[in-house]
Amino acid sequence: MSAHSLLLLPGDGIGPEVMAEVERLIDFFNKKGKVRFETSTELVGGAAIDKHGVPLTEEALGMARAADAIVFGAVGGPKWDKVAYGIRPEAGLLRLRKELDLFANLRPAICYPALAEASSLKREHVEGLDILILRELTGGTYFGEPKEIVTLENGQKRAVDTTVYTTFEIERIARVAFDLARARRNKVHSAEKRNVMKTGVLWNEVVTATHAREAKDVELQHILADACSMQLVRNPKQFDVIVCDNLFGDMLSDEAAMLTGSIGMLPSASLGAADAKTGKRKALYEPVHGSAPDIAGKGLANPIAAIASYAMALRYSYGLVKEAELIEKAVANTLAQGYRTADIMQPNMRKAGTAEMGKAIVEEVEKLAA
Ligand code: IPM
Ligand code: MG
Repeated sequence: MSAHSLLLLPGDGIGPEVMAEVERLIDFFNKKGKVRFETSTELVGGAAIDKHGVPLTEEALGMARAADAIVFGAVGGPKWDKVAYGIRPEAGLLRLRKELDLFANLRPAICYPALAEASSLKREHVEGLDILILRELTGGTYFGEPKEIVTLENGQKRAVDTTVYTTFEIERIARVAFDLARARRNKVHSAEKRNVMKTGVLWNEVVTATHAREAKDVELQHILADACSMQLVRNPKQFDVIVCDNLFGDMLSDEAAMLTGSIGMLPSASLGAADAKTGKRKALYEPVHGSAPDIAGKGLANPIAAIASYAMALRYSYGLVKEAELIEKAVANTLAQGYRTADIMQPNMRKAGTAEMGKAIVEEVEKLAA
């Protein structure tokens, strides 16, 4: 049996804590013996800065290129606030996304039945919620040039970020949106600001043309990004797939996270294009939450987003759909049994730390697999 290669990049803050729970699951699969994962672990973010002076070494980048998939924890924290902008912890993550051309960022927001009360929205708005935010991840405001702060003659400073998109970039993300929608409820909302931004005008044009040419079977609606953020809290269940640019996707996905009860619940997958010969995609899986320095090292973090990210790796990188479903079912069952980390704690529930939650999920996987 050939082993699947998997690179673990735990990073900073709660990253290593939630990654330890992913490793618990990997150990389970390796012991059971039907599939095998060969893991290696590398530093990224602040942890890499402390040891190597940069947030991502060339060696780590090389390992990322070679791996079948990457599971990423989180980066950043107050300890590195004063580090130069170009080598700040987040630059390590952004470089991975760009160098591996991981342009399609899937951020599903699913509200587990047991957590409908944990959302700040009323139960009827979130119960049964299952939406997918598809964020363009390698273009737009994050990477556009010029990106600088210059000092003017009068001593004032002037900062510039540039939002850039080409037809090619919009077309390829639109295509992914239509493909994903076909396997779901067949509906795509494309969110942009065509009323203010030229990139919004082009985005709208290209999505419309791609739809007309390749995806007439999918329902497409255009929505202004600000209206989309409003509708997400007014009536989130109207959405199926929302496709948008890098910056809008960053914001809309944090907003969508809260519909599910906690940002500690949200996994994500960042995928590249399928290789023409092998059909394989480069892929990085990461919880949407950050490094949460305030609770780091205390064993309080919710490991579900990281565990669900690993489940996404099984589904999208290794084609192990049954195993992915097993994990997702185990998470739902563990929540139904009352286990709650602090971020999703409710009256009369059983408060669990990171490791206790991770163990409970693995036990549930064992039961379901038996
Ligand atoms: C995210 C994060 C990152 C982003 C940061 C850590 C650079 O907020 O993945 O949503 O802005 O993309
Ligand atoms: Mg974000």
